[in-house]
Amino acid sequence: MNKSLNLEIAGLKLQNPAMLASGVLGLSAAPLERIVESGASAIITKSIGLNPRIGNTNPTVVQTECGLINAMGLPNPGIDVFISEIYEMKKLEVPIIVSVYGFSPTEFAETAVKAVKAGADAIELNLSCPHVEKTGAEIGYNPKLAAKIVQKVKEDVETPVFVKLTPNTADIAELAVAVEKAGADAITAINTVRAMAIDVETAKPILSNRFGGLSGPAIKPIAVRCVYEIYQKVRIPIIGCGGITNWRDAVEFILAGASAVQIGTAIAFKGIQVFTQIVEGIKEYLEKKRFRSVIQIVGMAHKN
Ligand SMILES: Cc1cc2nc3c(=O)[nH]c(=O)nc-3n(C[C@H](O)[C@H](O)[C@H](O)COP(=O)(O)O)c2cc1C
Repeated sequence: MNKSLNLEIAGLKLQNPAMLASGVLGLSAAPLERIVESGASAIITKSIGLNPRIGNTNPTVVQTECGLINAMGLPNPGIDVFISEIYEMKKLEVPIIVSVYGFSPTEFAETAVKAVKAGADAIELNLSCPHVEKTGAEIGYNPKLAAKIVQKVKEDVETPVFVKLTPNTADIAELAVAVEKAGADAITAINTVRAMAIDVETAKPILSNRFGGLSGPAIKPIAVRCVYEIYQKVRIPIIGCGGITNWRDAVEFILAGASAVQIGTAIAFKGIQVFTQIVEGIKEYLEKKRFRSVIQIVGMAHKN
């Protein structure tokens, strides 16, 4: 363990700043042991709702030259079935953060309450899925509605509540301010960027849903900009996410204002050991630059 990498977000103790992002894995406990062994300091589960959901029909993911476009449609077994996976995940020695979506403030809160009862260390509200109607980004575009959801969930659960924001909006910092005022304990930025791909042979959109969300290296500069803008407006911790594939990317997010980062798509391209590379790289960077702690460099780009 390296003390210079330790940090705390909303009271959650993390051994390093690199967390597993929601969705790429995290629907079942089985593969997560290796993710933690590789160095992930927390697990964010796939987004879970009150009721089971099949999701969109295939194709739901397309690979492009700069990342993935997915329109999974939030497939999940529903919180009542997922509870047994939370019990399994609790055997891992890192915080388990259950990602929750819903179609109303009450649905978000009911799901969150059940997740916390099952042992979730924190909740991440997915206010940002770009490809399911009447939840996610549709809620996440609207600061007043986003605030209502956060308020309701905060009334009903005692664990920290993170709020994951969409970049598919004119002013992400306005959303961040609204959810901070409503009581959010941390902000995760960003979810995927609305995108599409067309098959030139069939002249048809590739995804069954036509539109999806772009993740991976293409969105990193957008995500860094979002974190930088949010940091200027809020005081709660920010967790940066979007296109991180190596330690330099992670450090860039931290300098922009993120206290920690989440990694998703890079696992598909680089494998589970991406966490080891990122954590080791951040440690070496801090040593080389003679910083005592990662906390020291959070938001440093704002001073220059
Ligand atoms: C296949 C896939 C499924 C995803 N599912 C979810 C999800 O259920 N909930 C969520 O909040 N984000 C989900 N995301 C978004 C990621 O958590 C992350 O915000 C986004 O992919 C950007 O980070 P990355 O470039 O490191 O993947 C998903 C992403 C991918 C690629």
